[in-house]
Amino acid sequence: MANIAILGYGTVGSGVVEVLKTNKKRIEAKACQPIEIKYVLDLRDFPNDPIQNVITHNYDDILNDPSVEVVVEVMGGTNPAYTFVKSALQKGKSVCTSNKELVASYGSELMRIAKENNVNFLYEASVGGGIPIIRPINRSITSDRIEEITGILNGTTNYMLSKMSDEDLEYNDVLSDAQEKGYAERNPDADVEGYDACRKIAILASLATEKTVSYDDIYTEGITSISKADIAYIKKMGGSVKLLATAKFNDGKVWARVAPAVVLNENPLSMVNDVFNAILLKGNMLGDVMFYGKGAGKLPTASAVVSDIVEAIRHKDINLGIGWSEQKQELMSIDDVLVRKFVRVEYNNKEEAKADVLKVFGTDEIMEFFGLENEFAFVTCEAKEAEINDKLNELINCKGIVSILNSIRMEG
Ligand code: HSE
Repeated sequence: MANIAILGYGTVGSGVVEVLKTNKKRIEAKACQPIEIKYVLDLRDFPNDPIQNVITHNYDDILNDPSVEVVVEVMGGTNPAYTFVKSALQKGKSVCTSNKELVASYGSELMRIAKENNVNFLYEASVGGGIPIIRPINRSITSDRIEEITGILNGTTNYMLSKMSDEDLEYNDVLSDAQEKGYAERNPDADVEGYDACRKIAILASLATEKTVSYDDIYTEGITSISKADIAYIKKMGGSVKLLATAKFNDGKVWARVAPAVVLNENPLSMVNDVFNAILLKGNMLGDVMFYGKGAGKLPTASAVVSDIVEAIRHKDINLGIGWSEQKQELMSIDDVLVRKFVRVEYNNKEEAKADVLKVFGTDEIMEFFGLENEFAFVTCEAKEAEINDKLNELINCKGIVSILNSIRMEG
């Protein structure tokens, strides 16, 4: 019999209870023993829920009970999650978490403490919700050097961009819809500014490099500047806009970025719509492999958490020795990364503006869109980000150009 304790009876916590109940027989067969939820820690009471029998408001009940083998942290945030998780590991209990903020901020330290105490710190649900990605990187793709990870790692923004495209809507209209549906928070910054995706790619990049990639070092741009006019041109080009989280690993150089990108229809990531997530990973032997599924939501996320519970129970007293070290991974400046950009400009004289684009970027291939007056769009040549930005500054000062309405990186 393995006793577990769940910290937090919110969406994911109640999902964990539901998954354990619904698939009890199968899960216990995989864990090779019965699993008992001995405690659920929450500030609230749940008088009409059978869970009330195991509710505690005092974390020490869990910490000081030597029969609790696995602590499941599904509270979110770093305070008090960090203190709770650290003390559980120090007491010789394995921890499973869905908390990307905790893993991105303290992952290497918590994995070291787990190792010192011969237990495990597992976090499958922290990236991609229900999509298995952490364990495949750690346990399956061990024969390869990972060259690239590109993911749609935030369901809320993917839902918003898909809706803007499908229904020809502006950003603000889809934001209120996403808030009404409960995808985006009242303060939507974590999703729409790219912070959530940034933490997730920091975790994946740390796994790939086996060093700590700090999320503070990752260039991060959200989707707030994307308009339905941008999407109209990009659809006409045969593409869509996605918030991509990318990390590339080449010759010891690593860079990472979160930003909206134009994804052409031949790229499999273009087919990932609504709240779905996907991660495209390139191994130096394996080539491309893509993971696709529900990146958020109660049961998909809980399913990933429960898979970690089974893993922890099966590896009692065996540290799996996976993860990354506390050594910092330096990142290459984003200014030196090669890019092409889709650019929309407003002009006062079309022929002059076309000549300006030709002079600065060497292209006279422009796109126009019915109904959008005094503007056109084009795709730049490929150059380092800093050089493209210099050229855009040069373009703004050209006689035929009034302003740059938007610029979005092209993927691939
Ligand atoms: N806000 C996140 C998303 C939840 O939209 O993907 C899952 O981490």
